[in-house]
Order: sequence, then structure tokens, then C-alpha cells
Amino acid sequence: MSQDGKDEVEVEVKERYERPEIARHVTGLMNKFGAPASRKPMTHIAGVPVSELVAAHGSPLFVFSEADLARKYRDASRAFTTRHPHVELAWSYKTNYLDAICAILHREGAAAEVVSELEYEKARRLGVPGNKIYFNGPYKPVPALERAARDGAKIHVDHLDEVHELEGIASRLDKKPEIAIRINLDAGIQPQWGRFGFNLESGQALAAVRRIVGGGKLNLVGLHCHIGTFILEPDAYRVTALKLGSFALQIEKEYGVKIEYLDMGGGFTSTNTLKGQYFTGESVNPDFDRYAEAVSVGLAQSGLPAEDPPRLVLETGRAIVDESGYLVSTVIANKRLPNGLRAIILDAGVNTLFTSFWYNHQVIPAQEHDPFNEPAAVYGPLCMNIDIIRPEINLPSLSTGDRVVIRPVGAYNVTQWMQFIRSRPPVVLIGLGGEVELIREAEDLSDILRREKLPPRLSLEGQYHGGT
Ligand SMILES: Cc1ncc(COP(=O)(O)O)c(C=O)c1O
Repeated sequence: MSQDGKDEVEVEVKERYERPEIARHVTGLMNKFGAPASRKPMTHIAGVPVSELVAAHGSPLFVFSEADLARKYRDASRAFTTRHPHVELAWSYKTNYLDAICAILHREGAAAEVVSELEYEKARRLGVPGNKIYFNGPYKPVPALERAARDGAKIHVDHLDEVHELEGIASRLDKKPEIAIRINLDAGIQPQWGRFGFNLESGQALAAVRRIVGGGKLNLVGLHCHIGTFILEPDAYRVTALKLGSFALQIEKEYGVKIEYLDMGGGFTSTNTLKGQYFTGESVNPDFDRYAEAVSVGLAQSGLPAEDPPRLVLETGRAIVDESGYLVSTVIANKRLPNGLRAIILDAGVNTLFTSFWYNHQVIPAQEHDPFNEPAAVYGPLCMNIDIIRPEINLPSLSTGDRVVIRPVGAYNVTQWMQFIRSRPPVVLIGLGGEVELIREAEDLSDILRREKLPPRLSLEGQYHGGT
């Protein structure tokens, strides 16, 4: 009998049925890939509970930590400035050009490295002076080149047609633009990036210098080389530094032009793990000190004078920003694949996480979980077969609504993300004092429709007839 005197009807609550499966649980310390089989949950990001972040901003959600970003920048700067007297870090905009991220790095002292007029404009809008911009890329439209020349930006020439265009601009402006030539060279890395700039070993680069000096309209102040990205072998930078340094000396000797800076590009690894990499990136990828040491040895071997050597410019992108970025995502469903493998569907897919095509990102539960792991495929929400975050990873059981944190994801994702099937999620920044600020709003249908034009003759309004 209840308090109001009515008879209570007993309702039988049935347990949900799930078809039993026999699955091997992985409990050992190491699996065959060398990674620990079970991890602690990541309940907080930069001191803020993941549950709070999602409650306030939804899921999926990109989260950046200002402390992580500043720490990495300072670490890079320390590694190089302790070994070389004049160093400049130029932030590679394409790696992540969210205003807030760029602003933090400029506050830390970074110049800007841009590869399009869009990125150039973004840097100028943020307050970066023209003479603190390094302008790379195979396509710089003439108006963009002219603006850069007026602003005093360093223009990195990619091909002879650009030399020709720049000479025209120099005549029109009656000003000698400051330029560098981009060089490609054999640093022992395969495949060699030969499509950008002028080749060193074939004599193409020297021929370009002869052409530029002979033209007399451009001020050759630098040499630039970006050998590739996620270069796991620091020695490639020793070779590059040695070759660039020797080339600078050759230019001075043969043409009387003193090279003011050597720009070694970017390409240093983050702690991410490449697909096919045997050990985890966290345990084996080189840190800034190993790259900096390789560069300083290469410069010393090149014979450049210790006194007043050229400025060393670095355009490292990924290695600075990757670890400061996290993607919070929610489990939508669990299922079994025909081969018996467990599959987890998340609300974040490759449209937001482009880098999952080449990395095995960490996928870490954001709440306490049981100690048993089972291999699982982790999929995104897109109705596309390619939407795979991890083809197979050991994870504890996760229920619908549970959160995971995917990391490191700070490099290239918030520039290469797509409005493919689902719109882009919001981005928040956790500041040094733990404050959480929205730095990019979630997109919605209006962002897609904003640029579309439907010819009135195609309007369906009142005319939809459906099938026959
Ligand atoms: C010219 C140039 N500089 C710098 C970078 C940054 O490279 P990373 O993010 O590998 O350091 C890139 C990226 O490919 C680039 O093309």
C-alpha cells in the first residue's frame, strides 16, 4: 500500500538484452605495438572537466590549451636560441590559422609564414607588420606579390615566372623587393619534395641566383628550404643546414651577395603516431633539441662564420600546435561487424579530423571505465566508408553517451576540415587562468547556404510534385 492508500502495481523492469559475444580481453602491460593496453581516463583538459566543456558547448568540440601551446612555442624557441645567436620562429598559418591561436603565438614573439593572399590578409588583420611576414607558396597572384613588396614582406620565390613578375613590380614601385629563393635538395628523405622552388644539386638554384642578381631589381636576402613534413630523421636537417650554409657562402663568393637569413622551413614531428609507425610517437619521435642540434651541427659543418652568421628562420607548425589541440567526441552507438570486431560510432568523423587519414590518434575515454580492453574499430558519423578514426584500437567498454578525447589534433585539422555531410563543430580555448572561451562558433546550415544562389526558375516553392 502506498502513502495515498492506493494499491501499488508492480512493474517488471526488464534488463536490456544484448547478444553474448566471446571476446579476448587485452589486459597485459604491452600489446604487440608496444603501447600500454589500458590507459587512465582523461576526465579533464587543462584542468577543466570534459563533462563541463560538453555541457556548455556540446559535442563534438575542439578544445585548445593556451598553456600547452605557449609551452611548446617556448620549448622550440629555447632549443634553437641556445644554439644559434639569431633565431626567428615564423608561425606556419596553414597549420592552424584560428585568430586566437595565431594571436597567442604572435604574442609569444612569432613572425608569420603564409602561403596565400588569404593567409597574408589574416596575418595583417591580426596586426603582424609586413616585414614580419615570410610569403611562401607556388602561387602568389600579382596583386598579392605587389602588396607584399609594398609592405616589405620577405617573398620566397618559387619559380622563374615569379622572378619575372616581381621584376615588373619592382619597376612599377621603384623599389627593390626583399626576396629569398626556395630551394629543394637531397637531404636523404624519400620521396624528395622536388616540386617547390629550385633544385640545388642540378645547378638550377645557382642559375636562379645568377638570373636574379643579373636582373638587378630584386634584393636577394634569404635562402629557404622546407624538406617535407613529419620528418622523423633529425639528420635530414643537418644535411639541409650544411647544404644551405655552403650555398650561402658560394653566393657570397661568386656574386658578392651576403645572405641575411637561412629559412629551414618546418617539418618537425609532434608526438602523434603515424600509421605504420611501430612505436608510439610519444615514446620515439624526436624533440626540438634533437632537431636544433642537427641544424647547429650542419651550420658549423658548412663553414659559415661563427661571428654574425645569417639569421636562422624556422617555420615549424605541427610540432608547436599539435599537442595543444583535443577533440572531445561522444559515443553514438556500439555494434558488431560481420567479422566479430567491435565497432564504436562517434559523433566526430574525418570531416572534422582530417589527420586521422595518416595518424593513429589516441582515443581516450573521458570517464572512469573498467580495466578490460577489447579491440574496436572507431568510426565517425558520416555515411561514407572512409569515415574511420581508428581501424582498430584497444578500448574498454564504452556506452552510448560516453565521451572520448582524441589527441593530439591541434595541427591541420581546423584548417583542413570540411563541411562534408555535417557542419564544423565549435572551438574553445582554455586560457592560462582556466577560463573557457569560445574562439570559433559551431557552423550550421546558414554557413553553407550563405554563398549559394538558387536561380528563381529552379525554386520548388509550391511546385513540388514528388514522385508520380
Ligand atoms: C613552406 C612550409 N613551411 C612550413 C610548413 C609547416 O610544416 P610542419 O607543420 O610540418 O612543421 C609547411 C607545411 O607543409 C610548408 O609548406
